[in-house]
Amino acid sequence: MKECITVSITGAAGQIGYALLFRIASGAIFGPDQPVHLRLIEIDAAMNALEGTVMELDDCAFPLLAGVTPTSDLDEGFKGANWSLLVGSVPRKAGMERKDLLGINGKIFTGQGEAIARNAADDIRVLVVGNPCNTNCLIAMRNADGVPRDRFFAMTRLDENRAKGQLAAKAGVHTNSVSNMCIWGNHSATQYPDFVHAQIEGSPVPEVITDREWLEGEFIRSVQQRGAAIIEARGASSAASAANAAIETVCTLAKATPEGDWNSVAICSEGQYGIDEGLIASMPVRSDGAGNWSVVEGVEVDEFSRGKIDESVQELREEREAVRDLIPS
Ligand code: NAD
Ligand code: LMR
Repeated sequence: MKECITVSITGAAGQIGYALLFRIASGAIFGPDQPVHLRLIEIDAAMNALEGTVMELDDCAFPLLAGVTPTSDLDEGFKGANWSLLVGSVPRKAGMERKDLLGINGKIFTGQGEAIARNAADDIRVLVVGNPCNTNCLIAMRNADGVPRDRFFAMTRLDENRAKGQLAAKAGVHTNSVSNMCIWGNHSATQYPDFVHAQIEGSPVPEVITDREWLEGEFIRSVQQRGAAIIEARGASSAASAANAAIETVCTLAKATPEGDWNSVAICSEGQYGIDEGLIASMPVRSDGAGNWSVVEGVEVDEFSRGKIDESVQELREEREAVRDLIPS
């Protein structure tokens, strides 16, 4: 058995939290020889519900679960954290865009960023799920004084998985056959699911799916609007698939990426692909399995893709402007 690691999760009593905790405690992220201590952070009003979830965790008698600390205190919640999954925030309702949540959710991430800086372990990594996740991640990162920027991630893996699903269905293959699927930009209705570089069984998608009109139109729209379609159908936003994507994101960053492939994660731009330095934007990312990740270099961006990426980056700039007062200069 390895030394125990600490995972802090905000919004632990929410619907994503409920789909996430039991999988982490069972070893789905960190492996069958990695004990975990869960620090579960909620607002005071949800502490009773969280107590119930903790009882259920106890009742699973998970061999890898070394301890559980439910709390509404941020210092207690992020103490010694090696990973923090920032889920806690309000989900949108039908008819809203994710950025409409900035006014409600943005401020949550200032205090959390500060508390991470004060309390987390030296190797802390932070995945932001709560929407709008790119800009909330920016807020957390900029308030976490002293924590390197390359430790902050926002989740676009759910979009990647959705895009793979749509392409696989159109081509009549299993989703396993789809690789190199990059979501560029914002986890929003402007995101660009890059079909140009995606592959099906090793061939470029446009060679396998020759219906360009579908690729440029319905495919992109369906990925961009999938979250809204789920809210419309369920009356609540995606939860199990979001928890699954969070787990896969952490696995992707921790394990070596298969040769030639990449995954989508929003990271702090250093100016790659003409994306403004400092924005949290989704790009193709690879990991070496030893804790190091990097943006894939040399992806050729054609004119169509350039226009789509620029549109999403412009939205990220506008979101950053809207939360200027939450970002220390
Ligand atoms: P939910 O309402 O079921 O749960 C949210 C939980 O967060 C609640 O228990 C609430 O008490 C808690 N919370 C609120 N403010 C908090 C704070 N300051 N500190 C700690 N906890 C707090 O919502 P959900 O369905 O679990 O969704 C959570 C968030 O994830 C939403 O913003 C949603 O839009 C987002 N989301 C993102 C993606 C993605 O792909 N990035 C996918 C799905 C959902
Ligand atoms: C999703 O993509 O399902 C989430 O971001 C929830 C939402 O508001 O769409």
